[in-house]
Parts: sequence; structure tokens; C-alpha cells
Amino acid sequence: MLQNDLLLRAAQGLPTERTPVWLMRQAGRILPEYRAVRARLSGFKELVETPELAAEVTIQPVDALDVDAAIIFSDILVVPEAMGLTYEMVEARGPFFPETIKSAADVQKLRVADPAEHLGYVLDALRVTKRELHGRVPLIGFAGAPWTILAYMVEGHGSKTFSKARRLLYQEPTLAHQLLEKITVTTIAYLQAQVEAGADLVQVFDSWAGILPPAHYHEFSARYIARISEALAPLVPVTVFAKGAWWAVEDFAHSPARTIGLDWNQSPREVRRQAPGKTLQGNLDPCALYGTPEQVKAATEAMLREFAGGPHIANLGHGVYPDTPAENVKVFVQTVKAWRG
Ligand code: CP3
Repeated sequence: MLQNDLLLRAAQGLPTERTPVWLMRQAGRILPEYRAVRARLSGFKELVETPELAAEVTIQPVDALDVDAAIIFSDILVVPEAMGLTYEMVEARGPFFPETIKSAADVQKLRVADPAEHLGYVLDALRVTKRELHGRVPLIGFAGAPWTILAYMVEGHGSKTFSKARRLLYQEPTLAHQLLEKITVTTIAYLQAQVEAGADLVQVFDSWAGILPPAHYHEFSARYIARISEALAPLVPVTVFAKGAWWAVEDFAHSPARTIGLDWNQSPREVRRQAPGKTLQGNLDPCALYGTPEQVKAATEAMLREFAGGPHIANLGHGVYPDTPAENVKVFVQTVKAWRG
């Protein structure tokens, strides 16, 4: 049914003619076509909550950049909202939660969301996208890891330290576990619903993994990701991306998640040794895309060589930065596509 299933085969550890490639945060930000759609609207949330428009910007990078996958245009913060905490996306600043989680009563008040009822607009966006893609490339669904969602729910906005969220793990570990449990149950149902609506693969983003000490990571993050992976892996391939948490590879090496995402601080050779048989995804430094086209090509080829010896999905080590020249993104994609390592 899929005309290009390279990503799915690589994610299953099967042989591929060449390395598949896509970019985290490819939908939005860098494309003038995206900014044109966005400029007509009241804000980010209107785009996320209008399935036809979300589908349009999901497909834009497939047309403009020739990537091997589409990732649904949405945000990890739709989950806290579905559980009862509304977010605002403040122009040029980022997410903001008017109400945050401070007490046991706050956790009590949160609901385990019903995907059809509270996240139906994402499921509709997946259905529309799936139909409009006509099987050109696989469609990636996603959610935030429970720890990263907790971090925003407690902190209320982005932060360098997320010290309110980390304080909770020391002062009220039982409450933290209750909150993580509710987020996990919601996330499993949400990702299962995404698969039913057309997602061919799911990725769990643990963007704030790297700020936890390893022992806390095992206790408050990895074990919840493991539950999500166990629930989803029988349905579709699962990718886990724990930004900054190089020491978490040992948690993922034996997990049902077949693909491990690497940021640019990690050594692909080292992760291959620690997690034999896994598919690895990543990990070009997003800043490498500020070079000349020749430099982008050389950096991409050097990155590809580092991943030799096992299945690889080429990507950046984190989301593409908003001011990245689209031309250089194309050089990155074309270099991967021409590579026969
Ligand atoms: O990957 C894609 O192209 C699909 C769309 C997508 C968005 N957010 C759209 C978005 C995805 C996968 C996300 C995930 C996300 N959101 C993460 C995990 C990945 C990562 O980057 O670490 C996180 C931590 C968030 C939370 C979030 N959303 C922040 C901190 C911000 C503000 C800063 C920023 O990244 O731009 C957002 C806003 C956001 N989400 C934008 C987009 C396109 C920009 C806002 C706009 O266009 O108006």
C-alpha cells in the first residue's frame, strides 16, 4: 500500500536499498509555505486544531524537501490540555500554562483523557493526512514522554533547569508517580488511537530527559516509556528519543522500542555497541545546516559513516532550527539519498 516504505523497513530492522531520511520538526518553522498558512490564522493552536490545515502543513515537507516520512503536525502539549491543563502558545516565546500542578489535589483533578473525545482533532488530522498522502510515504505519530509532559505541567513553561519539576521528584516522589501514571495511561490510549487513525510508526519525545540524574531517569522516565513501548510495539514500530540522556541507552537496549534516537552528543558507534540489533536514528548537529552546501554534504557523509554496521534512519540530533536555510535541508536530504555506504 505504501509506495515508499523505507522508513518502516529500517524501523523493523529489515534491509533497505538506501538509508531513509526525515527531520524532527520538519513540519513548520523552516518552510515559507508553512509561514504563509500560519500568517492567515489567529495562532499556532488554530492550525493544530484544524485538521485540513494541519494535514496541509504535514504534507508540505514531503513535497518541498522530498523526505521519506511525514510527521503529523501537532504538539506534545495537546496531552496536558486533554487532561485538563490548557496551554497557550506565546508568539516568539513558547508554551505557557496559566495553571500548573502544585499539589495532590491538582493531580486528582486531572482526567485520564479519552482520545476520541479530547484529542479528536489530532485523530481527524491523521485521517485527512493519511488520505491526502495517497501512500507516498509513511505517517509518523508522536507523543511526549511522561517525564517531559510532567515537566511542563509542573513548571508551566520552558526552563533551563526545570527545577520546580525536578524538586517534585525529591520532595514528593509518590505524587510524581501518580502524575506520571495518569499521563502514561492517557498517552498509551492516545498513541493507540493515532495508530487506528493512520499512524504507521510512533515516536516518543523525551526532550527533557537529559536534565535528570541517571537514577531519577530510570525511576521517573524510562520505566514509563517502557510501558508505552510495550503497549505500542505489537501495533507499529516505536522510536524513543531521549534528548541529552546518553546513559539511557542501557534502558532502551532491551526495550520493545526497536529504534533509538540519538542527539548529536552521542556516538553512533558507541550506541551500536551498547544496543546491538537496534535501529538507530539521528544525529547531525542542527547547526551543521548553517554551513555552505559543500560543508553540509561533507558533514552529512561523515555522520552516515558513523552509523555503519546496522540499520539507520538519518535525521538531525534534535529539531531543525527555525532559521535554517531550506536549501541546506535539501542538500542534507539529497546527500543521504545518494549515499550507498
Ligand atoms: O516535528 C514536526 O514537524 C511536527 C510538529 C511538532 C511540533 N512540536 C510543532 C510546533 C512536533 C513533533 C513538536 C514536538 C514538541 N513540542 C516537542 C518535542 C520535540 C522537541 O523539539 O524537543 C516539544 C518540547 C514541544 C513543546 C513546544 N512547542 C515548544 C517548546 C515550542 C516553542 C518553541 C519552538 O519549538 O518553536 C512549541 C511550538 C511549536 N510546536 C511550533 C511548532 C511548529 C512553533 C510555533 C509556531 O509555528 O507558531
